Amino acid sequence: MVAAPAIRLLILLCFLLPSTFAIYCDEDDCYDLLGVSQTANSSEIKKAYYKLSLKHHPDKNPDPESRKIFVKVANAYEILKDEATREQYDYAIAHPEEVFYNTARYYHAYYGHKTDPRAVLVGLLLLLSAFQYLNQWTRYTQAITMVKKTPAYKNKLRALELERSGGITNKKKGHKQIDKKSEEDFGKELELQIKGAEKPSMWDLVAVQLLLLPYTLSKLLVWSVCWFWRYRVKKTLYSWNDACYLTQRSLRVPDEAWANTDDSMKEDLVRRRLWEKSNMEIYMTEMRKETKRRR
Ligand SMILES: *[C@@H]1O[C@H](CO)[C@@H](O)[C@H](O)[C@H]1NC(C)=O
Repeated sequence: MVAAPAIRLLILLCFLLPSTFAIYCDEDDCYDLLGVSQTANSSEIKKAYYKLSLKHHPDKNPDPESRKIFVKVANAYEILKDEATREQYDYAIAHPEEVFYNTARYYHAYYGHKTDPRAVLVGLLLLLSAFQYLNQWTRYTQAITMVKKTPAYKNKLRALELERSGGITNKKKGHKQIDKKSEEDFGKELELQIKGAEKPSMWDLVAVQLLLLPYTLSKLLVWSVCWFWRYRVKKTLYSWNDACYLTQRSLRVPDEAWANTDDSMKEDLVRRRLWEKSNMEIYMTEMRKETKRRR
């Protein structure tokens, strides 16, 4: 279970690595592509490039092989025409063992100084989301592991097994031993019921939330307008759900706690119209008296 985030990261890296190592002229030599020696000066390189690009330009040469050569030649020229990148390239071929250093320098030269700030933002968002997801997964698996160690969980598991087998337990295996397979199956069922350990969801990620922001905002706007129209303009009585919402908000009850409150209690609270300040004050004084009395 704990290995899951690590595996995800590994899969991601496997997709990224091939593109990482395709640097400079791939497996070709940039000088060979242009047909010049490593000591050629800049005007010789330029001349060689023009000659080759004329020969292989897609407008002049419809052969698809030629097109590929044209792209490669243009790329090689990009690298060799600039003193700085040419120097880096020379260093990279002289020190093939410094793979990571060369790769970093290559990416810095090509993407470092002409990075679109929007791309940086998107990259940061994606990175943040990835960390968020990993974090959620870790917390989730930790919570599950903790819960599984509690006696309450073990009892629940046993009860579930008994219920499924119709009260007949396998005598041979003994009462206490639940076989591995059914433990796994029941475990999956119980996992869904563990509160406070929300399975990580794509919808919660920062990047996704940001994408959904216009939708969320317009939904909120429609909701507010409807609310205003119904309850302020037309002065309709609050619907049950809306009255619940107001009560819950004025008492600051979390959703989960509210859902677990029994109906008669809810009804009583809603009838008090606690969203009105005066009612709330009366309710609070009553509550204070009640706690004093109990002491
Ligand atoms: C480059 O080399 C060529 C041939 O060796 C020479 O004719 C030319 O003057 C040189 N150009 C520069 C800018 O050094």
